[in-house]
Amino acid sequence: MSEIVLRNVCKEYEKGNFAVKDFSLDIHDQEFIIFVGPSGCGKSTTLRMIAGLEDISDGELWIDDQLCNYFDPKDRGLSMVFQNYALYPNMTVYGNLAFALKVRKASKSEIDEKVHKVARILEIEHLLDRKPAALSGGQKQRVAIGSAIIRRPKAFLMDEPLSNLDAKLRAQMRIELAKLHKELETTIIYVTHDQTEAMTLGTRIVVMKDGVVQQVETPIELYNHPVNLFVAGFIGSPSMNFFQAHVTEENGRMVVFIGNPKDGKKIYLEGRRSELARLRAMDQDVTLGIRPEDIHEYADAAELGIEKATVGMNVTVTAREMLGAEVFLYFDEQKKTHAVRLHPKNQTMTGEKIDLYFDPKKIHLFDQNTEESIFYREETV
Ligand SMILES: Nc1ncnc2c1ncn2[C@@H]1O[C@H](COP(=O)(O)OP(=O)(O)OP(=O)(O)O)[C@@H](O)[C@H]1O
Ligand SMILES: [Mg+2]
Repeated sequence: MSEIVLRNVCKEYEKGNFAVKDFSLDIHDQEFIIFVGPSGCGKSTTLRMIAGLEDISDGELWIDDQLCNYFDPKDRGLSMVFQNYALYPNMTVYGNLAFALKVRKASKSEIDEKVHKVARILEIEHLLDRKPAALSGGQKQRVAIGSAIIRRPKAFLMDEPLSNLDAKLRAQMRIELAKLHKELETTIIYVTHDQTEAMTLGTRIVVMKDGVVQQVETPIELYNHPVNLFVAGFIGSPSMNFFQAHVTEENGRMVVFIGNPKDGKKIYLEGRRSELARLRAMDQDVTLGIRPEDIHEYADAAELGIEKATVGMNVTVTAREMLGAEVFLYFDEQKKTHAVRLHPKNQTMTGEKIDLYFDPKKIHLFDQNTEESIFYREETV
């Protein structure tokens, strides 16, 4: 059992300069919490404050109903795994795994049993006699995780643990971590730059910017209902496409014009979305966001029945990326490049024209002053 609660936690390395500001979060037992955000947004600082490696300037940290702000790192019952896995080079894998238990003066038989158990879970039993120098990156990483697991911490804190591995090993270790999380039934707080890790591992993702939490949600909610322009652009790869747009009423229907209304590129809104647009953005300039997979070619738009609610944009393809299971087409509009994801059967080549249809149920609108989503909350509750 381990619940970690942060209440308005702040970090000021220098007076008046917040690296982390009013970070509040209830982390439940057995959650896999992911911190993401641009470089310097305060992810590591937050993790280090939880671990006790950094003082908390203001606010409260509770671990299992105990106020822990002033606890020594070793008394918090947490284990941290860093990007640069710190192994003892002169000890074997066995020695590295056993180290924390030896310090605690565990018996030889207890140590032996636990080392083998952890090595079995991580599939490194055949490496127990080797020194770290004779291990691959992924194997070293597993030993580092093993030496964290063996202490049976209340929770694991991991700061980009896979970032030194090549793409293939990373993908393997990602699956290992997901399994491990299930097997150990423990809480994990995990910092990453990797979209796939965030989306696949996290029970919830915390998106940070400039030391401030922007949104905390399950991966799918975050993807489908970003609270603001920043989160919308940060989550997803290729990124959401953004256009200057204008909301108005036309013959009693709410409509969003892309660019200049004279160009006639428009999308009709219906139901709750129409009401929210009327309420919050009537006759206003907005930013329209749409993900690459929510733009369709004519046949698919007709099949979805959306071709009547959206006026197809005729664009010239500036680049084409065929990935086997999908094809990405790129086009320029409003002096920016945008991406569309289509079925690989689409044969439109670079330099050719294509009509594209935006799914009205999937577009996002953002207020141009606050950058907040116009459809958020009322739509999700
Ligand atoms: N010891 C320090 N003294 C002063 N400022 C610091 C210190 N450590 C970090 N900072 C600053 O605090 C802010 C947050 O840093 P932090 O390391 O938490 O970012 P991060 O989100 O982990 O970034 P990255 O993705 O690059 O690892 C940054 O502006 C950084 O320059
Ligand atoms: Mg960091």
